[in-house]
Amino acid sequence: MPEKRIVDQTNNDEAEQALEQTLRPRMLAEYIGQTQVKDELKVYIAAAKKRDEALDHVLLYGPPGLGKTTLAFVIANELGVNLKSSSGPAIAKAGDLLALLTELKPGDVLFIDEIHRLPKPVEEVLYSAMEDFYVDIVVGEGETSHAVHVPLPPFTLIGATTRAGQLSAPLRERFGIIEHLQFYDFAELRQIILRSSKVFHSKIDPDAATELARRSRGTPRVANRLLKRVRDFAEVKGEQAISLPTTQAALTQLQVDDAGLDQTDRHLLKMIIELYGGGPVGLKTIAANIGEDMETIQEVYEPYLLQNGFLIRTPRGRMVTAKTYRQLGIPQPKSE
Ligand code: ADE
Repeated sequence: MPEKRIVDQTNNDEAEQALEQTLRPRMLAEYIGQTQVKDELKVYIAAAKKRDEALDHVLLYGPPGLGKTTLAFVIANELGVNLKSSSGPAIAKAGDLLALLTELKPGDVLFIDEIHRLPKPVEEVLYSAMEDFYVDIVVGEGETSHAVHVPLPPFTLIGATTRAGQLSAPLRERFGIIEHLQFYDFAELRQIILRSSKVFHSKIDPDAATELARRSRGTPRVANRLLKRVRDFAEVKGEQAISLPTTQAALTQLQVDDAGLDQTDRHLLKMIIELYGGGPVGLKTIAANIGEDMETIQEVYEPYLLQNGFLIRTPRGRMVTAKTYRQLGIPQPKSE
């Protein structure tokens, strides 16, 4: 397993989850970025409220750290309903799903993170729950086993996943609202950093906030994590407000470069250049060389590199670009 990355977009750390909760916006008006997603949701939420019906089921997909969970809570708050939260791997049996579903009140939200990881038998129970608000399950064993029909209140399922393509077609088709979360631009990240520093009661110079935004991989979770680390450097130096030079020095120490790439990104890109002449090289080979599984590379590492033109996907595999050579300071060989 490679060491923990400062720009890791996933959040499997309890302290970090607690931090995210304190930083989480509660309503759409406070939620920065994802303008198109917000504009659409506003309409659907208003219409559902007007009809006094449960909002249609919502699928949120996009790379980790972009605020899918945050948005699920915001939707529930906007609807004025309760949210029950679980995740695909945590719902092992149909009975676990039933326990969650029977606790819902009319109009409530059930949030399932990593919904692509639901076991197949659980997923199949979810179909009738989503479509017609009932489940049929078999209870007991052997002679005494019998089917029970359990009606459910109308509810909204919000599913989150890193890639919509991972979902089976029958499950995907049962979501009326499908929203793709995109990487944030620098201006949006800068706003998020300024908002978070207020929540932390720390001051940050405007040019330091801009620098942090540029190096945050388009990802609020990374921005907030870098802000915390940079704040530590500033505090130790006795600064009143986080300054640009301290931000730059801290990020250099953390080995996050001016494009937001960290050691792992550079290692991956360098490996393609040094061992495979810049590519094309298959995903499997990349995974074997950097000691990560293919899924993690595709979902966590690649989206930012692809979006920013440091990597391109071709039918024969991944290739680096002229921009990659420039970023890494490696001369690009002349093509013959
Ligand atoms: N914190 C994390 N993501 C956010 C967002 N999109 N808007 C406001 N604050 C955030």
